[in-house]
Amino acid sequence: MNYKKLVAEKIKEYIDLDLGNIEKLIEIPPKSDMGDYAFPCFQLAKVLKKAPNVIASELEQKINKADFEKVTTAGPYLNFFMDKALFNKNTIEDILSEKDKYGSSKVGEGKNICVEFSSPNIAKPFHVGHLFSTSIGNSLYKILSFEGYNCVRINHLGDWGTQFGKLISAYKRWCDKEALKKEPIKELLRIYVKFHEEAEKDPSLEDEGRMYFKKLEDGAEEETKLWQEFKDLSLKEFKKLYDLLNVEFDSYAGESFYSDKMDAIIDDIDKKGLLVESNGAKVVMLDDYNIPPCIIKKSDGATIYATRDLAAATYRKKTYDFYKSLYVVGMDQSLHFRQVFTTLKLMGNKWADDCKHIGFGLVRFEDKKLSTRKGDVIFLDELLNESIEKTLEIINEKNPNLENKNEVAKKIGIGAVIFTYLKNNREKDIVFNWNDMLSFDGETGPYVQYSYARGKSILRKVNNMDSKPDYGKLNSKEEFELVKTLEGFNKAIMNSIAKLEPYIVTRYAIGVAKDFNKFYNSHNILNQEDENLKAARIKLVEATCQVLKNALGLLGIEVVEKM
Ligand code: ARG
Repeated sequence: MNYKKLVAEKIKEYIDLDLGNIEKLIEIPPKSDMGDYAFPCFQLAKVLKKAPNVIASELEQKINKADFEKVTTAGPYLNFFMDKALFNKNTIEDILSEKDKYGSSKVGEGKNICVEFSSPNIAKPFHVGHLFSTSIGNSLYKILSFEGYNCVRINHLGDWGTQFGKLISAYKRWCDKEALKKEPIKELLRIYVKFHEEAEKDPSLEDEGRMYFKKLEDGAEEETKLWQEFKDLSLKEFKKLYDLLNVEFDSYAGESFYSDKMDAIIDDIDKKGLLVESNGAKVVMLDDYNIPPCIIKKSDGATIYATRDLAAATYRKKTYDFYKSLYVVGMDQSLHFRQVFTTLKLMGNKWADDCKHIGFGLVRFEDKKLSTRKGDVIFLDELLNESIEKTLEIINEKNPNLENKNEVAKKIGIGAVIFTYLKNNREKDIVFNWNDMLSFDGETGPYVQYSYARGKSILRKVNNMDSKPDYGKLNSKEEFELVKTLEGFNKAIMNSIAKLEPYIVTRYAIGVAKDFNKFYNSHNILNQEDENLKAARIKLVEATCQVLKNALGLLGIEVVEKM
């Protein structure tokens, strides 16, 4: 039930403004004793040539108060107090009948959105930044799909470029085949690092690397086979992580996928007169936009990252006819995306404006012991496993007899990490700290999951409920605040879509958990003599659990029934 709209409709009967404009004027008063919605009359003063407080009291006289507890004036404001019984009933019944769909809509129907995220690099570790991208991208995918958008999840793998020539050279010289089988990414990283160390002493190695990449680009058999092997080994590792995180993709078309689609793009850029020589390289000048040129082809003729992105964007438009194309990539690549999008625009593609870089900040660790560091790299599987283990320790302390402890620890431990990524404005840097992340009573994933499990444990204790719920009796401050929060789920999601910010949903989930705990701590639910009030409270608990589950689901976090 949309009470705000109802308020607007009542006002519209007497005021000559369209509904949308009236809705925009409606405010939520700072204190609940001033009503649930307020309509300020200042704006009308000019048109009606009356003082705002006069308009307010005239409206108060005329307005139909049927669906409200009362309507009052406070100076220039018209204050609306909802009919709580009606509001509670409608909200709770909506949730319990819509269930897993509560909060969803069809606003995005017929619109395709490409969501590119994760995009790790073959033969290199999946790092904390890739997990940031994965968490945001997966959540945006879920949020947008929930509102009816048709999303394509794309993993733009870093699987092409001169580094693969270097890797082939390193492989031939130093690879330990046993180690490669056991821990492929670690071994590939080791030989890649070694390549760079050795190349400092012997620069001819760089030429060797270039030679191998050239062979790879020309489709030479041996090099292609090696590259494919590196790719298969890496993907196998990445997929283990995606399984752990419950993340899937619709397309793994990475950089190599565009290797045969680049000439066409370069031709096109050239035909449009945009291709310029600069120090032997081919570039598109972007001086007019105050950014450095976009390099299309290096002096040795090799194409680069940006060229592959130009080809990828064009391919996505052709293949998916997107309404928006999102790139969930760290803010350190902001300039790169400005160069790519501006070049696309200069090429005459109006849709370049629909390409959006969804940037995010850096990740730091407060506690150096947080995870094993080898080289300067944090291995994600180690990070996630550490979170799971630490959660298991907490469970062993708090609830040693819990069944399925490992399964529960997995969901909570992983949920805690994802939650930390999605808790703040994505452009803000993140500081990981186990105590903060895993606490059961801070603004954390475990806290929200615990609230859900708490609700579920109450519901398990209900044996017979044949009394009819009387929603009018949910009239305490705590109950009404909770229902109001539950009712705001869709608004929070729409807000999150407008800003492409999952944290709005995260904050919303924290809000529900907080309101639920206030309600739970100040009212007795099961030991309640008034059977109709008890039934209403039980329904409220059920509705709360449903909304918590839906909200966490949009973040890519699974709930547990017991913890
Ligand atoms: N593979 C890149 C990296 O790890 C991210 C790819 C971003 N996406 C893109 N279309 N350029 O930094």
